[in-house]
Amino acid sequence: MKRRLLDWLACPACQGAIALTRAVPEADDIREGELACGACGARYPIARGIPRVLPPTLATEAVATAARFGYEWMRFSEIRPEYEEQMLGWIAPVGRDAFVGRRVLDAGCGKGRHLRLASAFGAKEVIGIDLGPAVDAAAENTADLDNVHVVQGDLTHPPLRPASIDLIYSIGVLHHLGEPEAGFRALAPLLVPGGRFVVWLYAREGNGWVLTLVDPARRLTSRLPLPLVSGLARALTVPLWIALRLLYAPARTRPRLARALPYSSYLRDLVPFPFREVHSIAFDQFLAPVAHYMERPRVARCFAEGGITLDSLRWHHANSWAASGTRSEAR
Ligand SMILES: C[S@@+](CC[C@H](N)C(=O)[O-])C[C@H]1O[C@@H](n2cnc3c(N)ncnc32)[C@H](O)[C@@H]1O
Repeated sequence: MKRRLLDWLACPACQGAIALTRAVPEADDIREGELACGACGARYPIARGIPRVLPPTLATEAVATAARFGYEWMRFSEIRPEYEEQMLGWIAPVGRDAFVGRRVLDAGCGKGRHLRLASAFGAKEVIGIDLGPAVDAAAENTADLDNVHVVQGDLTHPPLRPASIDLIYSIGVLHHLGEPEAGFRALAPLLVPGGRFVVWLYAREGNGWVLTLVDPARRLTSRLPLPLVSGLARALTVPLWIALRLLYAPARTRPRLARALPYSSYLRDLVPFPFREVHSIAFDQFLAPVAHYMERPRVARCFAEGGITLDSLRWHHANSWAASGTRSEAR
C-alpha cells in the first residue's frame, strides 16, 4: 500500500479518517501493517501490501459471491490484449479521454484487468476495490504500476472519503449485489460534483435464452463446489467453441448469417478469444449466487437513486446495459 492512499481512505463503519498505526517497511510501499479509524477506533490490517478495510459485518451472500469470484480470478488471472477493446465497448460512449488526469475508482476490480487499462488511458490515480481474494490477483497484476492502488472492501460500505473520486466505473459487478440499488446509493457520494459514473450490467431485455436456461442452472451450480462448476463450464465450452469457430467467426463478415444466429452481436465478439478465456466467461455465468438481469427502467432508477443524471443508456450487444451519468453539481 502506498502511503498517499491514506488521503482517500475512510472508515467503512463510520466514515472517520484513517491513520497508519504500524507499517513494515516504513518506506512508501507498505507490505504489512495496521490502519486505525481516528473516530471509532476500528482497526484494519494491511496484508500482502493490500489494506483490508472491511465493514464490521458482511452479508453471508456477499461473502460467498466474493469468495466464488475470487476463485475464478485466481484461476484465470492472466491479462489478455483483447481486454482493451472489450472494456472500451462496455464503457462507450465514455472513452479513454475521460480517464486523463482523473482519480478513478474501479468498483469491483476482480483480477485488475481494467486497472491496468485505466492507468494506460492516462488516469492520475486508479483505485480498485474488491470484496474477495481477487484483490491478491489484482495487486499482483498491477504491481508494476505506481498509480494503481488495490483495496479490499465492500462496495456497499466503500472505504473511501465522500467527494474524493472523479470517475467511477463498475463492469459486471452491481448486478451481483443483493440489491444493485444499494451499490449505486453507496458509490455515488464518492464522486466529486460533476464526476462521472459508468456501469455495465446484465439486461433482462434480449436475454431470453439465458433467463430460460442459464439462470435456472446457475441457481443450482452456485451451490456446487467450484472445481466441479469449472469442469461443467469447460464441458459446455466445447460446443460453444465449435459454434464460435464454425458459425460466429464467418458471421463476422457475413451480415445475413449474423442476423440468423442467436446472441450474434455478443458471440461474434468472443471469436478472437482463446478457448481458455471462453471457458472463464462460461464459468463466470454459473458461479455467482446472485445475478440480477435488469430492465431498462430499473437501471435508470438506480442512477436516479444515486443522484446521478443519466447521460447515456445503451443496449450493448443486445443483451446488456452500458450506462453512464454525471453527479449533479449541487447536492
Ligand atoms: C464478474 S466480476 C467482474 C470483475 C471486474 N469488474 C472485471 O470485469 O474483470 C464481479 C466482481 O465483483 C466483486 N464483488 C461482488 N460483490 C462485491 C461487493 N459487495 N464489494 C466489492 N466487490 C464485490 C466480486 O468479488 C468480483 O470480483
